[in-house]
Amino acid sequence: MRMYDIIHKKRDGRVLSPQEIQFWIEGVVNGTVPDYQSSALLMAIYYQGMTDDEAGELTVAMANSGEQVDLSAIDGIKVDKHSTGGVGDKTTMIIAPMAAACGVSIAKMSGRGLGHTGGTIDKLESIPGFKTDLSREQFIENVKRIGAAVVSQSGNLCPADKKLYALRDVTATVESIPLIAASVMSKKIASGADRILLDVKKGSGAFVKTAEQAEKLASIMKSIGEKAGRKTEAMITDMDNPLGYCIGNALEIIEVCETLQGKGPKDLTDLCVELAAHMIYLGERASSLEEGREKAKSSITNGSAFAKLKEIVSAQGGDVSYIEDNSLFPLSAIHYEMKSIQSGEIQSIDAEACGIAAMTLGAGRETKTSEIDYGAGIILCRKKGEHVEAGEVLAKFYSESKEKCLAAEKILQQAFKIKIN
Ligand code: URA
Repeated sequence: MRMYDIIHKKRDGRVLSPQEIQFWIEGVVNGTVPDYQSSALLMAIYYQGMTDDEAGELTVAMANSGEQVDLSAIDGIKVDKHSTGGVGDKTTMIIAPMAAACGVSIAKMSGRGLGHTGGTIDKLESIPGFKTDLSREQFIENVKRIGAAVVSQSGNLCPADKKLYALRDVTATVESIPLIAASVMSKKIASGADRILLDVKKGSGAFVKTAEQAEKLASIMKSIGEKAGRKTEAMITDMDNPLGYCIGNALEIIEVCETLQGKGPKDLTDLCVELAAHMIYLGERASSLEEGREKAKSSITNGSAFAKLKEIVSAQGGDVSYIEDNSLFPLSAIHYEMKSIQSGEIQSIDAEACGIAAMTLGAGRETKTSEIDYGAGIILCRKKGEHVEAGEVLAKFYSESKEKCLAAEKILQQAFKIKIN
């Protein structure tokens, strides 16, 4: 078999056989397929798509490309959750402690930033000392002892996805339904949870923009999960506007702490209650979704979810004093205020543009090897539906360079759609 022929076949819109998909994925892992051939095939898949069977075969090949995690040492039902990626999406760090505080076991493997979206692992690493590369034994031990652990996709878990994920990020091939489905579900299957909750993001800041695409993605992923014997639920949630006010790694951890203490933005809090309710229900700690919602809300009001976050941080080597006193987080040196040029009602804030502006400030990676500035990012000062006067601050920027702030301002001014009245 030759990679050239496989690329050629997909370029012409034909269906790849399971053996061809397997050949590619083996070559990605053992290094016999160079990045330029994988990039070409990814672009061909981006344009030509894949059948549901091909996407299923790709998922299985990627899930089998490395280790399969055995979580059987943890009693009870293990629940995992995955978001298909958004801007300001910090839900994992809120709902994992909420669900764990309600007795659900959360063994969570998360990713780094991809494209204009942030990644849970980058955000967690902005907490000094926080280790996301726990050994498998330590990971299992933490879930058994405190109910939750969030680790990076380290070691030999889905090495094919690890390589392809990084390659897609820099070759404009992220926004493909079969590639997203295979990437997400291969990790979910290999990481061993019994039940999976998928948060499928739709809108300008998501990788899929329309309701039809989101429904298609949700249904492919659900069917791949069920075929692998995992009960899988998918929620489709809005990502036209950024979630919450903060975009950027340390800034988002601060907003996580506020939300777990009942002081978070309404959009973020409402979504987290809904996601946590599904996890609590999937984990059979509630007999209905309504009961799950009540338990999720109580975990915030009675302080148990915030206490659980501190336990998780401490068990993974993080400095809990930063969680207790958020002013300790070192934000980037340059603080810049972006002012509104007109008065009126904010009709929308384009989430993708916000993600790109945050990346421009240093909060995300522009290439596979770029360094992240954990203290960089944006605090939005106004949300959709609010009124603003010309000259009032719309957003605050944090960066290490004034030039980056000016470049981000150019992008973000366009993101605010203001109805003049
Ligand atoms: N999240 C993933 O894990 N993979 C994708 O392709 C997109 C979002």
